[in-house]
Amino acid sequence: MKRTLLVVDDEYGIREFLYELFRDIYDVTLAADGKEAIELFEKNLFDVALIDLRMPEVSGIDVLAYIKDKNIETIPVVITADRDIDHAVEAMKMGAYDYITKPMDYKKLTVTIHNAIEKKGLEEKIDSLERHILPSSLFSNIISHSKEMRAVFNSMENVLNNDATVLIYGESGTGKELIARAIHFNGNRSDKPFIPVDCASIPESLIETELFGYEKGAFTGALKTTKGKFEQADGGTIFLDEISNISLDAQAKLLRVVQEREFLRIGGDKKILVDVRIISASNKDLKKMIQDGSFREDLYYRLNVIPIRLPALRERTEDIPLLIQHYLTIFNERYHKKVIFDNETLRILMDYGWPGNVRELENVLNRVILTAEKDVVLPNALPQEMRKAGASDDGAETPDSDISLDSLEKQHIRKLLMKYDFNISAVAEILGVTRKTLYSKMEKFDIKK
Ligand SMILES: Nc1ncnc2c1ncn2[C@@H]1O[C@H](COP(=O)(O)OP(=O)(O)OP(=O)(O)O)[C@@H](O)[C@H]1O
Ligand SMILES: [Mg+2]
Repeated sequence: MKRTLLVVDDEYGIREFLYELFRDIYDVTLAADGKEAIELFEKNLFDVALIDLRMPEVSGIDVLAYIKDKNIETIPVVITADRDIDHAVEAMKMGAYDYITKPMDYKKLTVTIHNAIEKKGLEEKIDSLERHILPSSLFSNIISHSKEMRAVFNSMENVLNNDATVLIYGESGTGKELIARAIHFNGNRSDKPFIPVDCASIPESLIETELFGYEKGAFTGALKTTKGKFEQADGGTIFLDEISNISLDAQAKLLRVVQEREFLRIGGDKKILVDVRIISASNKDLKKMIQDGSFREDLYYRLNVIPIRLPALRERTEDIPLLIQHYLTIFNERYHKKVIFDNETLRILMDYGWPGNVRELENVLNRVILTAEKDVVLPNALPQEMRKAGASDDGAETPDSDISLDSLEKQHIRKLLMKYDFNISAVAEILGVTRKTLYSKMEKFDIKK
């Protein structure tokens, strides 16, 4: 498809000249004055407009003002008489891409128009790139670089602006609630409520009142009619967290709402209709529970319309350094500290299996940074089970029984120095001695880098 060029000039001869000049390369449209140009802009998209500044009534400057005002994505180039150079300057200030002086140098003219067309193409490319990138920046609070999470983002993008029922699977601490919130708050229901229900923490006997509400007098203590979570979520999203925890009884009632979006308050006889998106989450395998008879198959299929599986942190280790950096920044800021991790500490953090996933990582970093007394955090500040998991040759082996104390000390110091790349402060701290003492021991045992 040819690129489009609008030529706006009140002189018939110039219009015709420009038409002949460009008709083979571009799809050229002519306008005899500013008014006609504006009318054309209302109905057409042009890549570039070549506009004469001096025109009666609606001038070229007026056309430029119109383009700017209406955010029209046409690149304007202006034509001006040699003596009107001030106008050219003004036009550039108003967003003209370039100017051509009359009498026109036809070579400069073709180059300028060519460049303007090229600029338009670039702008379009950037626009489409931005559009492409936008969805993931929607989820900018979700830290991740891994391709495993990229798949999660793609699924999320697909459900943002529809009402699809979503079931999020993932081990504890993988970010299920974070994902549910991101879907709601980036979707078309974002100005309506997001109502989380933690099915694990509500006692069995209360789950129905929680979900569906009750009428005044429905039971002792029901002093006034109260809305349940489904009604509170009307227009928005209900997040049924740890869905595996609800009883078969409650599952049957839930099935009806999921199917019909309709329910009765406890003790009520009026059907209540709600418009809610349902997102549920589970860290248990519901399919297995179906086999055990503890989860209804029909409910499962209703909830599992769009499944999103969140990978455990150990399945996406490339996210670990990002998350460490993320929480390091957050907690340093929160506690007004400047903590960093030494290499060995970092290595342990990276190699650890993180059974509690992101939540565990967040908690460990929170504690370590809060309690850090020095700026450099050494492995001994980490929880013991992590150090154990990470330690391969951490001096844990038993020494030869008849080795002298001196040579044991020498071995130990040398090992630590190697491990910490001769970081004297770090090793001195681990050994619980001053740097000066460490230096004198190194001299005594003749340990050099
Ligand atoms: N990719 C991530 N980027 C940033 N923070 C994350 C990410 N994943 C999880 N978190 C954070 O980790 C913590 C746990 O996340 P969340 O509560 O969403 O997990 P969950 O799967 O619902 O866990 P649980 O099973 O324990 O309820 C939250 O503080 C959350 O903000
Ligand atoms: Mg949760």
